[in-house]
Amino acid sequence: MNRQPIVPISVSDYRALAQTRLPRQLFDYLDGGSYQELTLAANSAAFDAVKLRQRVLRDVGAVDTGREVLGQRWTMPMALAPVGYAGMLARRGEVQAALAAEAFGVPFTLSTVALCSIEEVRAAVKAPFWFQLYVYRDRGFARALLERAHAAGCPVLVYTVDLAVLGARYREQRYGMGASLSLAQRARVAADFAWRWRWLYDVAWRGRPFAFGNLAGAVRHARGMSDFRKWIAANLDPSVTWRDLEWLRANWKGKIVVKGLLDPEDARTAMSAIAPEGIIVSNHGGRQLDSTPATLHALPAIREAVGGRTTVLIDGGIRSGLHVFKALASGADACLIGRAWAYALAARGRAGVSAVLATMKRDLEVAMALTGCVSVGEINGDVLV
Ligand code: FNR
Repeated sequence: MNRQPIVPISVSDYRALAQTRLPRQLFDYLDGGSYQELTLAANSAAFDAVKLRQRVLRDVGAVDTGREVLGQRWTMPMALAPVGYAGMLARRGEVQAALAAEAFGVPFTLSTVALCSIEEVRAAVKAPFWFQLYVYRDRGFARALLERAHAAGCPVLVYTVDLAVLGARYREQRYGMGASLSLAQRARVAADFAWRWRWLYDVAWRGRPFAFGNLAGAVRHARGMSDFRKWIAANLDPSVTWRDLEWLRANWKGKIVVKGLLDPEDARTAMSAIAPEGIIVSNHGGRQLDSTPATLHALPAIREAVGGRTTVLIDGGIRSGLHVFKALASGADACLIGRAWAYALAARGRAGVSAVLATMKRDLEVAMALTGCVSVGEINGDVLV
């Protein structure tokens, strides 16, 4: 039986299409988590388990999903999270996703490890986008990245703190990602790539995704992606501490959002270190430490720890507008999606991302209407059973 949807609607439909389109290695990179993938599964399951309190006859003729977050008006409280290698999923993928986010009216976050550089995305869009920073050993290089992001007008820097070391992602390694392969293994990986002729023509041939745009200056004489990967592995800095946040504050003129907090004590420390304008409750989409709690379960204690002193965002497992609604009802000001937009990008490029964003907004509108909320500000714990 052909299980591909004729008309893709939900995120899982786009996931199914992405699976047929991408080489196995790339699909598993996108879809997989770390180790047993317990946290990956827990993230969405936590959202699914929440029950909503349906209310009726409350005049919900004019539901407004808009919200102001970090000084920008968003069409709905949901931004695009940084997803590295997105330019491997679709031709110049980061540009396509940024264009979809711009047209829809929510921020796009460009990863440090994007294929498209800050300048390439800047030239393609008019709306300001966010930049996500990994701090590498070479702080001079980090400073140069900050200057480039500032010159591109990025209003928000997302500083990811949960990647001091890399969680092992067995699923992607099984298909050769980042592994050193024998000749026979390489031939098997190549055979799988060869079979994905659409990807080969559209993404590899026309898109030329053979360098990380933001790292090109640092990784001199790179002969291919494996040289970049080696550089990244050698330059991750596990010695980073809270003091580096102060360094960041001194070197970045815009707003700072700290991404990757799961513990209320860490959230409190972040507040006393630099009082970031925002924090993201995140476990990196279940790609780092396995067996950490689902982000939805970590959210209430963190919200309590920081109160209203900073903007609290959440990501991990959000696959529908109902999940967005549940995140807000559980105390988040807004949320981010990672795989949801990346599946859609891999399946249908910019049009796919636009379609998924529109579907999620419609789902949020319906959830708001049937719980009796006409504005996002009215969504709180009262809408939960
Ligand atoms: C990520 N994530 C991520 N985070 C980050 O700060 N910088 C990055 O470059 C990446 N790269 C990346 C690649 C892929 C393929 C995935 C799936 C995720 C984490 C991402 O920003 C976000 O935290 C999670 O994706 C949220 O979980 P969901 O929405 O994917 O379930």
